[in-house]
Amino acid sequence: MRLVMVGSGYVGLVSGVCFADFGHDVVCVDKDPGKIERLRAGEVPIFEPGLDVLMQSNVKAGRLSFTTDLAEAARGADAIFIAVGTPTRRGDGHADLTYVYDAAREIASVAADDTVVVTKSTVPVGTGDEVERIIRELRPDSRISVVSNPEFLREGAAIDDFKRPDRIVIGSEGEHSRKVMSEIYRPLFINQGPLVFVSRRTSELIKYAANAFLAMKITFINEMADLCEKVGAEVQDVARGIGLDNRIGSKFLHAGPGYGGSCFPKDTLALVRTAQEAHAPTRLIETVVEVNDARKKKMAQKIIDACGGSVSGKRIAVLGLAFKPNTDDMRDAPSLDILPALQKAGAEIVAYDPESMDQARPLLPGITFAESAYDCLGGADALVIVTEWNAFRALDLKRIKLALKAPIVVDLRNIYRSAEMKQLGFAYYGIGR
Ligand SMILES: NC(=O)c1ccc[n+]([C@@H]2O[C@H](COP(=O)([O-])OP(=O)(O)OC[C@H]3O[C@@H](n4cnc5c(N)ncnc54)[C@H](O)[C@@H]3O)[C@@H](O)[C@H]2O)c1
Repeated sequence: MRLVMVGSGYVGLVSGVCFADFGHDVVCVDKDPGKIERLRAGEVPIFEPGLDVLMQSNVKAGRLSFTTDLAEAARGADAIFIAVGTPTRRGDGHADLTYVYDAAREIASVAADDTVVVTKSTVPVGTGDEVERIIRELRPDSRISVVSNPEFLREGAAIDDFKRPDRIVIGSEGEHSRKVMSEIYRPLFINQGPLVFVSRRTSELIKYAANAFLAMKITFINEMADLCEKVGAEVQDVARGIGLDNRIGSKFLHAGPGYGGSCFPKDTLALVRTAQEAHAPTRLIETVVEVNDARKKKMAQKIIDACGGSVSGKRIAVLGLAFKPNTDDMRDAPSLDILPALQKAGAEIVAYDPESMDQARPLLPGITFAESAYDCLGGADALVIVTEWNAFRALDLKRIKLALKAPIVVDLRNIYRSAEMKQLGFAYYGIGR
């Protein structure tokens, strides 16, 4: 089939590359000429494990190309995917749908008569109706149909998630679009990836409900972690003890500094606003948003307390800046709350992240960026672990101890064992232990 991805960011690019790898002909479109130039040169503008190799092999096989010219890409396309951003709208927390509606207008002006337009971006309930209205207004006689197909991939594991999804949700109102979507996902269906066909509005809500539930699970274990600290219990054992129950499941039960990233913060907020407007408020999720925001802010105080009540004039070494490992994505990363708060309290910060430092630089002024994990530590008054990159899990603890001025370690991801750290003479502070 011939597919077009409008928007070649995380989701558009990963989806485009994986669809091409299934054997479809894919054109990835972006309005950012710099991005398209880099992609054409074989360079992946984001860090996503395995994406460069898969992209290059599909370009070589002639199944994948990049352009800024939607009209040219749309010629003969069976389906055009909208994979543009839906950030939080300034001021009110709603999803900003400007990019989606602009893309819908552009698609309407160039799409063939029976193209299926697929919204892959995360969009509030009813967006598909508006996309359809926009297209009908510009192309009243066409048979273009509009489908919702939310994406559930995780950055850092995106290719595997895309190729082996737990489910593929398709919100479609017509027979033709259903057939086209089944054909697009046939290679995955053969891989046992179940297709879940629902109404378009239901599909749009499933995406928000899934993200809100996961954000709630993280927030739950974070609150349990706070309770553990007060009552002398171990949150990792609590997580294991409840996670082995199949009804609960062990994933998303890692206590930490609060969720961040490109999806959970904006999607929880957007769901809250949608629900309030529909007079069916999601009080649980409203609280999740509030608790998580407060938690990210509280983390700096935890570090200050670990440093004896003040970080003024102290040098703090920070390992990890991205919102999670295996990505360079800094969107809503906890480090963006924690580090400026420490600076405000008078700390000097030296930080290292294996992949995100280029993204982090403009967002974190006044911070020194180190060349490696060990470079970061020399003469620091404390070490803070903010992101749990694998490369930080097995550092030479004796070397760390020698490098630090004071042996204080604040491990916001619980990647080290407190007993071992204490035995080695560290003043060690994890989360919920
Ligand atoms: N990042 C994730 O892990 C993830 C996972 C699931 C769903 N989503 C959702 O997918 C959507 C896209 O997210 P992302 O992280 O890929 O965003 P992104 O910001 O990385 O990429 C969006 C791209 O769209 C391009 N663009 C915008 N308008 C365009 C237009 N009219 N024509 C061509 N290109 C255009 C931008 O230049 C940009 O390159 C969002 O709704 C997001 O919530 C993201």
